[in-house]
Amino acid sequence: VGDRIALTPPMGWNSWNCWGGEVSQEKVLSSARAMVAKGLRDHGWTYINIDDGWQGVRGGPHNAIQPNSKFPDMKALGDEIHKMGLKFGIYSTPWIISYEGHIGGYSDNPDGTYDWVKEGDHNEFYRISRDPAQYDGRRKAIRKHGAYSFVDKDVAQWAEWGIDYLKYDWVPNDIPHVKEMSDALRRSGRDIFYSLSNNAPYGSAPELAHYAKAWRTTVDIQDNWESLVKIGFSQDRWAGYAGPGHWNDPDMLVVGHVGWGPKLHLTKLTPDEQYTEVSLWCLLSAPLLIGCDLAQADDFTLGLLTNDEVLDINQDPLGRQAVQIRNEGDRVVYAKPLEDGSVAVGLFNLGKEEQPVAVQFVDIPLPQGKLLVRDLWRQKDLGVFEGKFETSVASHGVVLLRLIPQK
Ligand code: DGJ
Repeated sequence: VGDRIALTPPMGWNSWNCWGGEVSQEKVLSSARAMVAKGLRDHGWTYINIDDGWQGVRGGPHNAIQPNSKFPDMKALGDEIHKMGLKFGIYSTPWIISYEGHIGGYSDNPDGTYDWVKEGDHNEFYRISRDPAQYDGRRKAIRKHGAYSFVDKDVAQWAEWGIDYLKYDWVPNDIPHVKEMSDALRRSGRDIFYSLSNNAPYGSAPELAHYAKAWRTTVDIQDNWESLVKIGFSQDRWAGYAGPGHWNDPDMLVVGHVGWGPKLHLTKLTPDEQYTEVSLWCLLSAPLLIGCDLAQADDFTLGLLTNDEVLDINQDPLGRQAVQIRNEGDRVVYAKPLEDGSVAVGLFNLGKEEQPVAVQFVDIPLPQGKLLVRDLWRQKDLGVFEGKFETSVASHGVVLLRLIPQK
């Protein structure tokens, strides 16, 4: 169990970037329904993942984390999601308290109870009330594991709910706890995709690739161009660690309506910037996790997420991660070898003006000669070329190509 999953990157939806801490069973269900009704499922979108915000207190037969009042029935939710032909994901942390302020897999109390109060807004001040002297009330004070692990109990509960995916947060710098959960998931009797968050130290990459199916390589992405460029165009050094069963995760697709709960709004990325994100994430073999309210997804957003020739680049069975083959300031070219012997190429223009961007065939890992150039967003052959292919690319935009050797 566990070794033959995620042979291509996972595709799904996650609640955090649209609902934040305001996630609820109804909202998750509405996303799952929209995934089916809007046709996304038919293009390979599968996972419906609850992020931070579902947790209540410990209890039940396993003394595992039970949902809070916004999730009246986790088992029923999982059953509904499975009936739709989708998969069900959940979130936890090895800390005593999660980033959002909910209990995690460790406790200072042998019975797993927690004694803390949240003060102030999201992410600010907390106090553990049992021993106020020990905990000074700041979040860092509870960013610790506690003396007692409830990892096996939580995993037993998740298996009963039918969980298929776990996002385990705030952990990749901590290999023993990464491994503890990896072992527990392997014993669970289910194939559970194991995803780590966030900002993994590069030095831990070999262990992360061994224990996990995906790990966040950066901090949280925001829906603006600077954040997208900083995160998306800096993934090259991780490329060697991507492959079937283990993927570098540069965080979610900030398309459609995002806003972390109270501030839901249409992404501030322009249409060209959104093409850039989806194209780059496909080239990078990144997990594709939609962060928006699917029920509000409009035709443009759906068009971004349902182009099979584009998604095929992400799902290519060879599982290679694209790297930059040319970087001339604001013109950046990526190449990703594909299983059928062709190569996916992204011509990116990070500049403020439209300009020509070229791929030189000497840079591509293919025998020299004539190449058929196909535009993947437009699903159109552009012709057979020798030496190079050059085209005009919109500011902050991309032209995504497949280069196919000709006999
Ligand atoms: C930090 C992660 O990077 C986010 O994606 C999200 O999971 C929050 N934690 C939840 O608290």
